[in-house]
Amino acid sequence: MDGNGRWARRRGRPISFGHRAGVRAIKPVMYACEDLGIKVLSVYAFSTENWRRSRREVQTLMRLFEEAFHREFDELNERQIRVFISGRRDGLSDRIRELIEECETRSRDNRGGVLNVCLNYGGRAEIVDAVRRLIAEKVRPEAVDEAAISARLYAPELPDPDLIIRTAGEQRASNFLLWQSAYSEFYVTDTLWPDFGKQDLEAAVSDYQRRTRRFGARPAE
Ligand code: IPE
Ligand code: MG
Repeated sequence: MDGNGRWARRRGRPISFGHRAGVRAIKPVMYACEDLGIKVLSVYAFSTENWRRSRREVQTLMRLFEEAFHREFDELNERQIRVFISGRRDGLSDRIRELIEECETRSRDNRGGVLNVCLNYGGRAEIVDAVRRLIAEKVRPEAVDEAAISARLYAPELPDPDLIIRTAGEQRASNFLLWQSAYSEFYVTDTLWPDFGKQDLEAAVSDYQRRTRRFGARPAE
């Protein structure tokens, strides 16, 4: 969800204004996913590297997460959406950790769709944490395969993403779902995240539908 800062700057407003608009943009995209039959939406809310931002900006973001969970959770739950929060728990405040636990537990049996919020998330950190678990569980080296690692990621129940959308024109992975994106299709749009809506999602999906996914194989003649 990139481009909140630029969106605010263009309007001569503070960064917090952009982040607030960024949070508002999530719900319409989520419901557009529902309409398109997309069952899992992952949003990159805060990376393990975002702590490098000013204390003030980090505080603003954390407050916005908290407010958003409080405000939106009941509606998500009513819509049968299961909430996953992927990322390192340490580093987050006790309040946010409790909130995360509550959202995940209360929505555990929902089967309508998944919202996976990547919060204090890093793709490398996730792989490191999976390796730590393998070692802690004393898994034998011969038993370590791709499935063993996949099973120890933050949300092993979720499928690998088919499509990864990058807003605000950036053409890099930025430590997002590194393991899971091995064969994901990437789509880059110049649209800034706060402006990203249903039509942008539909454009991304129809672009995706024109692609041929080979997963390394040779396509049939
Ligand atoms: C939001 O966009 C990303 C978050 C960490 C929530 P940015 O804040 O990175 O926006 P730009 O890159 O400054 O435009
Ligand atoms: Mg950015």
